[in-house]
Amino acid sequence: MLRIITTYLILDTYKMDIALFGFGCVGQGLYDALGQSHGFKAGIQKIGVKDRHKLRKIALDHFSFDSLEILGRSDIQAIVELVDNAEDALDIVTSAMQRGLHVVSANKKLLAEHFDVLFQLQQKHGVALLYEGACAGSIPIIRNLEEYYDTESLISVSGIINGSSNYILTRMDRDGLDYETALKQAQELGFAEIDPWLDVAGFDPKYKLVLLVVHAFGVIFKPDAVLNLGIQNVSAFDIEHAALKGQRIKLVAYAARNGNNIQAFVLPRFVGKESNLINIDNEYNAVEIEGAFSGKQLLVGKGAGSYPTGAAVLSDVAALSHQYRYEYKKLHQNIAANGHGLQDLDKDFTLKLYIRYQDDAQLQALDIKEVIEQYTSPRAKYLIAEVGFESLYNIRGKENKLFVALVG
Ligand SMILES: NC(=O)c1ccc[n+]([C@@H]2O[C@H](COP(=O)([O-])OP(=O)(O)OC[C@H]3O[C@@H](n4cnc5c(N)ncnc54)[C@H](OP(=O)(O)O)[C@@H]3O)[C@@H](O)[C@H]2O)c1
Repeated sequence: MLRIITTYLILDTYKMDIALFGFGCVGQGLYDALGQSHGFKAGIQKIGVKDRHKLRKIALDHFSFDSLEILGRSDIQAIVELVDNAEDALDIVTSAMQRGLHVVSANKKLLAEHFDVLFQLQQKHGVALLYEGACAGSIPIIRNLEEYYDTESLISVSGIINGSSNYILTRMDRDGLDYETALKQAQELGFAEIDPWLDVAGFDPKYKLVLLVVHAFGVIFKPDAVLNLGIQNVSAFDIEHAALKGQRIKLVAYAARNGNNIQAFVLPRFVGKESNLINIDNEYNAVEIEGAFSGKQLLVGKGAGSYPTGAAVLSDVAALSHQYRYEYKKLHQNIAANGHGLQDLDKDFTLKLYIRYQDDAQLQALDIKEVIEQYTSPRAKYLIAEVGFESLYNIRGKENKLFVALVG
């Protein structure tokens, strides 16, 4: 007779000891989320901060202003880095890894700018570096790409991955706010970076796109190589123009495989009813993954803010306690094939663009292949045209009242 033996696995509360660097929007979100977490407790042995005069909402003996003292402690296994500048973060994170400490970070600028070095430090010192909170806030996109899509060849990964820009566009569109008022609201709500230029000019979503590309395609791009144009010049005219066509403007990060190459860019885009992105509003983010076999899937969630990001960071800390680390399977495959994970970006294609401009000289930097529509009125001038993609790099950082958006 067959006897069925049932084994019950009893999971006790598990715990690890960490140091936290940064006690601002996300640091405090993590602190609160940890305090209310069930089944997982991390002991925060010390919190590193910078400003000695700031009022703190918890007792001062929790804090230290000496990062070296914190990193030298023998009672921590990991650090969580949530500081607001990439330079200090680089020092803290590299020192921690060199000392054999695991790291959780939400700092997309740090990670994207120094990805190759940080990748090597993980291998050299046998430590984990986890960064779910750095990409699309609460959406568990990195771990899904890493664990679920690791064996599938992906066609594209794209979406709205900057909460602050999406908030601004939503308020302009839904409430008729002007750009400056909408930006101020986004800052007050804690969605914007300290330097909001990083959000509105498309740098922040570009850093996140660089991380997505590593996990989706196994390729490392330097951020500077990836084109980003932002929403800093969007006007009520542009929003109305989209609405007349039943569309809305969204800032979309896009990466797709084209043969052996990858196309990757961040551009404002007109999206219509056929797009999953049309009703993603306010600080919400959405990432669409298209797999060769799985087809299209959409992940939606809050992309910024204290608690949504704190929750993603907490999940990473808990994952560390299970010895979880990214395996970078696709990146290792590429390294085995070509000796390195670097790859050229595909820039040899055209895009159909809406270009609102002030004087004709502004168009000279662009490789306009074909004008499809031209409009001039006392209020605005625009073109809809097929444009050589590479020429868009000529206007990056020099947009000067030019607003460019992808059509269709
Ligand atoms: N806010 C969001 O919604 C969001 C979402 C995703 C990712 N992130 C990322 O999360 C990170 C933190 O953002 P945040 O919004 O929480 O920033 P924040 O509110 O400005 O807080 C920054 C914290 O870093 C501390 N700090 C700065 N330099 C330091 C140093 N050298 N050593 C120790 N502490 C230092 C500050 O100390 P003081 O308290 O003494 O000033 C402050 O507590 C950034 O990388 C950001 O890009 C933010």
